[in-house]
Amino acid sequence: MARRKIIAGNWKMNMTPTEAVALCETLKPLVVNDDVDVVFCVPAIDIVPVAKAVEGTNIAVGAENFYIEDKGAYTGEISAPMLLDAGVKYVIIGHSERREYFGEDDAFLNAKVKKAFASGLTPILCCGESKELRERNAYKDWINLQIKADLDGITAEQVASMVIAYEPIWAIGTGLTATSDQAQEVCAMIRNTIAEMYDTDTAEKVRIQYGGSMNAGNAAELLAKPDIDGGLIGGAALKPDFGKIVNYNK
Ligand code: 13P
Repeated sequence: MARRKIIAGNWKMNMTPTEAVALCETLKPLVVNDDVDVVFCVPAIDIVPVAKAVEGTNIAVGAENFYIEDKGAYTGEISAPMLLDAGVKYVIIGHSERREYFGEDDAFLNAKVKKAFASGLTPILCCGESKELRERNAYKDWINLQIKADLDGITAEQVASMVIAYEPIWAIGTGLTATSDQAQEVCAMIRNTIAEMYDTDTAEKVRIQYGGSMNAGNAAELLAKPDIDGGLIGGAALKPDFGKIVNYNK
């Protein structure tokens, strides 16, 4: 069975609530494509107005982050029940920016993946190597270690339902996209790793995105690769071009 493509925007720390609603109004008519799942992962403060703005459309709302407790004395944090109540379906976990700037390690990310599933949120789990690891050809081992650690204790059924995003750090926000062959190589490797950890059925079901300077010009080539099931898009998700990425097959 063919996997359904999933194109997600990661807005990062961009868009005030007012700007977020305006961007939704611009993008709504442009991101209609029955063949593709479309997700807007937005800053916490934008979730409520964005959920309202996209009501009744094909757009699902995602969060960029959450904390592993349901409630309590965790100043500044936001919980899974809060996200669910606001209409959130997906949550990004393990983005390289959170690993690097906020010190999130694999043990914590594994706890987040577990909490997301326990709560009913679908994780978009990010992995990817630095330029230095790519240059010394250590990227495959690194990514496999990330995947194994982050999915520790996660069931086959859960993995089959989640999304994994391969985001080489050297390609994020740099304009330097991985070639479609480089992206395919790693996405296929991740699928292989899932087959080894679980079984081929699970590996065939899990959706694996590519992220890193994906844009309207390179999306079709990347998405034509057999193991690339979608994109996690930063900069280009904030522009009308996002509609062209979603409609890469039209
Ligand atoms: P850019 O598309 O801006 O390179 O960002 C990719 C990314 O980090 C998505 O999560």
